[in-house]
Amino acid sequence: MGEQIHFGGLTSSMDLAERAGIAEGWSGVDLCCALGAGMRFLVRFRKVARMTGVDATRAMVDPGVQTLCGGGLADRIAFVEANVLRHRFAGGKVRFRVGRDAWCYVEDKPKLIAEAARLINQKG
Ligand SMILES: C[S@@+](CC[C@H](N)C(=O)[O-])C[C@H]1O[C@@H](n2cnc3c(N)ncnc32)[C@H](O)[C@@H]1O
Repeated sequence: MGEQIHFGGLTSSMDLAERAGIAEGWSGVDLCCALGAGMRFLVRFRKVARMTGVDATRAMVDPGVQTLCGGGLADRIAFVEANVLRHRFAGGKVRFRVGRDAWCYVEDKPKLIAEAARLINQKG
């Protein structure tokens, strides 16, 4: 799997981004981003302008942040250490949200889906 901790790894990420039509200049949120490799992929290969990742596990977030410092992407990718069910994202309007091999672990799926929808529909 490498750092993209989902089934299919990089190949699957490329396929999904293509199918979703994720385009240059968009901004997005990765709910349950783990190490953030999926966000780095989107910034590097799809030229996404900005990503914010939310993950509840410090053991994922800390190395993810360290990778950014060495990779020159710290100005375009941010991490939030939080439970996606309790964190109310306040980063402004985003064009898309992504979650890979992770939402199955989140207990309250209706609440998760509602938050994901809110992120897309919010103004500003
Ligand atoms: C298999 S990994 C996700 C992989 C990542 N999306 C990727 O594609 O590389 C599952 C992640 O979900 C996170 N997670 C599970 N439940 C969560 C919750 N309620 N809030 C935030 N993160 C959660 C875990 O901390 C873990 O990092």
